[in-house]
Amino acid sequence: MKIKDKEFDIYLNTSQIEERISQLGHQISNDYAHCTPLFVGILNGVFMFASQLFKNLSIQAEISFIKLSSYKKLNSSGQVTQLLGLNETLFQRDVIILEDIVDTGTTMVQLLEVMDELGPKSVEIATLLFKSDTLVEKLDLKYVGFEIPDRFVVGYGLDYDGLGRNLTDIYQLKS
Ligand code: IMP
Repeated sequence: MKIKDKEFDIYLNTSQIEERISQLGHQISNDYAHCTPLFVGILNGVFMFASQLFKNLSIQAEISFIKLSSYKKLNSSGQVTQLLGLNETLFQRDVIILEDIVDTGTTMVQLLEVMDELGPKSVEIATLLFKSDTLVEKLDLKYVGFEIPDRFVVGYGLDYDGLGRNLTDIYQLKS
């Protein structure tokens, strides 16, 4: 399979992906049977995972989607992360962040810092894919679909240069 200049091989097919998401849905439904969690999906890549996971929940739950934008603070080298599009209050809520892939973990660590200031009761992370070899941050990922090697992947919402998000299987860059 080719996207632009790059060749990809199939890595995970739709039924493998959806079987694993179904397991995650059951696990989350058991863990959150006592409350109504608020899922917060990180756009763009998460839309397919979020949709499939939500269909596999047997509990009452809310979902909202955000975009992250970061800018450099004036007079400082630090990055500031902003959450765009969050209308729900996170105060005292049980929040589950939904992400397509955690690579170095930098995005997630910055997001957790911003979310903590909003006073949620609890925050857990559910990611479809996790490149465990490249993780540089200390992160507790409670729900992981698949641990994958450090090789670029596309499909099931993930893109290469804007393309490939519509593929219902996940493909890995050819070596
Ligand atoms: P992190 O901050 O290094 O964990 O990067 C996370 C973000 O990088 C994800 O939300 C993706 O947008 C992007 N990313 C990392 N690896 C891949 C990949 O293999 N395919 C597509 N996007 C990726």
